[in-house]
Amino acid sequence: MVRIAVAGDHGGFRLKEGIIRYLEEMGIDYKDFGTYSEESVDYPDFALPVAEAVREGRFDRGILCCGTGIGVAIAANKVPGIRAAQCHDTFSARAAREHNDANILTMGQRVIGPGLAREIVRVWLESEFTGGRHTCRVEKIGAIEQKYGKSTGLTCGEEKKSESCSGRC
Ligand code: RB5
Repeated sequence: MVRIAVAGDHGGFRLKEGIIRYLEEMGIDYKDFGTYSEESVDYPDFALPVAEAVREGRFDRGILCCGTGIGVAIAANKVPGIRAAQCHDTFSARAAREHNDANILTMGQRVIGPGLAREIVRVWLESEFTGGRHTCRVEKIGAIEQKYGKSTGLTCGEEKKSESCSGRC
């Protein structure tokens, strides 16, 4: 069963609460990493534990909320192996999974309403990475992390080269 790590700052608090209600309605296992009120906090402090939980395999995927969905995405993407995608429409949510194998979804409370957010979460959770030509591209993201000294679960090269990979990375 899929396990979801959820968090957000004060700017995404109400959106996060709505998403949690949706996950509960759907019977999806989750952990709420905060924040727990609309008192002002710093979004990296909430993006980091979710990103680490996903990277370490303690949770299958993560959902992060802030005012825009931007700050939490930028922060989460600093963690090696994390591919956080800000999605404010269902087309992007599906593509983020199918093409980019995004393991964290981010959304902004000041951008979209709770109904659309539920739909985005539904589509994102239902969609799977399609692999194929996208595999090498995702591996190349891991290669960028390696180039700058971050260790990542994904490699492109001798250890774990996909069939579709040209090996140039
Ligand atoms: C908080 O005011 C706001 O800056 C934050 O929620 C987020 O939108 C940052 O990217």
